[in-house]
Amino acid sequence: AFMHEAMGLSVLEKQLREKLQLNEVIIVPGNSDEQEWVKQEMGKACISRLKEKTRPGITIAVTGGTTMAAAAEMMTPFDYAKDCQFVPARGGIGEKEENQANTIAARMARQANGSYRLLYVPDPLSETSYQTMIEEPSIKGTLQLIKSAGIVMHGIGDALTMAERRKTPQEVFGKLEEAEAVSEAFGYYFNKQGNVVHKVRTIGIQLDDLTDAEQVITIAGGTSKANAIASYFKKGNSNLLITDEAAAEEILNS
Ligand code: BG6
Repeated sequence: AFMHEAMGLSVLEKQLREKLQLNEVIIVPGNSDEQEWVKQEMGKACISRLKEKTRPGITIAVTGGTTMAAAAEMMTPFDYAKDCQFVPARGGIGEKEENQANTIAARMARQANGSYRLLYVPDPLSETSYQTMIEEPSIKGTLQLIKSAGIVMHGIGDALTMAERRKTPQEVFGKLEEAEAVSEAFGYYFNKQGNVVHKVRTIGIQLDDLTDAEQVITIAGGTSKANAIASYFKKGNSNLLITDEAAAEEILNS
């Protein structure tokens, strides 16, 4: 039965790779909307890829979210961890403490025996505060580190689910609805065609910085994220998508 399932998933992986035009896809069994352990399984796959790709001196940037938080739980010590810096990809973007990128970066570093640098900025920021903040020496240093990250690990969210979770002001929410936002990643919101329709102003990785990373790992699963994943990968790129069976089937059927 195990072999059979493994073979079935590798067929799905190939189909999804072609559909989303990605180099590599890993699919774990189950549906993370319904089973919490599925996020941990995706997390495990993410951490093992991280360990393969890491090298001394590398900076590892992580986003927030419940999926990345589950990945952090799966972290264990690895070679070179002492010389690696874990950093949040961007500011908190309105998440609960346990799901913030800062918290997740610190937890990963602790469990890996690595080190970390955190970002202490409120967000979203006004244009003037943003300009002042990025000139602060302590923030500037962390920001440089973040932007030079060799490995980036991030989640994808359903646009309106994320907007609600972040207690987005009504006018912005209306704008997202009007623009038919489907997906969200790094505080950017995308429509069905994968075009950016809104961006939360915060410090950290910008979409363009992703092209400089050696390795981008995306984790997102669950039936509820099928459209979001498809939308993000219309334009977005990643070396590896880790998802679950339920999301994969839904994407392939629509
Ligand atoms: C956010 C990330 O914190 O979590 C986003 O900044 C991501 O990139 C989102 O879309 C996903 O959250 P979850 O809880 O669905 O894993």
